[in-house]
Amino acid sequence: QQIFILNGPNLNMLGKREPGIYGATTLSDIEALCRSEGENLGVDIVFRQSNHEGDLVSWIQEAGEQKALVLINPAAYTHTSIALHDAIRAASVTLVEVHLSNIHARESFRHHSYVSSLAKGVICGFGVDGYVMGLRALIKLAASQ
Ligand code: DQA
Repeated sequence: QQIFILNGPNLNMLGKREPGIYGATTLSDIEALCRSEGENLGVDIVFRQSNHEGDLVSWIQEAGEQKALVLINPAAYTHTSIALHDAIRAASVTLVEVHLSNIHARESFRHHSYVSSLAKGVICGFGVDGYVMGLRALIKLAASQ
């Protein structure tokens, strides 16, 4: 089983970016954590980040073609991207949405997500642990499908 872990804009800046909100962990740290969890769970992890909306759209299409599961932190595109919404809908991938911060406890423009209505579930507010929770949730879902 293959799992695409997709990360949206500015997540390459983790560690330097607003550490009060996002913590000191870097995206490479998150990748290492996900890869080791993937090994434990016996799944193949594809881990990517882009600052470009179209890359995320293409990767969702690719995940759909490969019948991969998707864990996505769409970052700011969560709140803006109808293109990403449409891509997820078209690819009909099994998807879990994750955010490091609790988006509902922040500015009101972060309260709405164009992804959540298409996700099996949403995890937010648990920092990097959310990625591990999301991976485990996806494996369980795949096993029961
Ligand atoms: C984020 C929350 C988004 O609102 C924000 O734009 C991000 C990161 C999170 O992981 O908490 O870039 O997705």
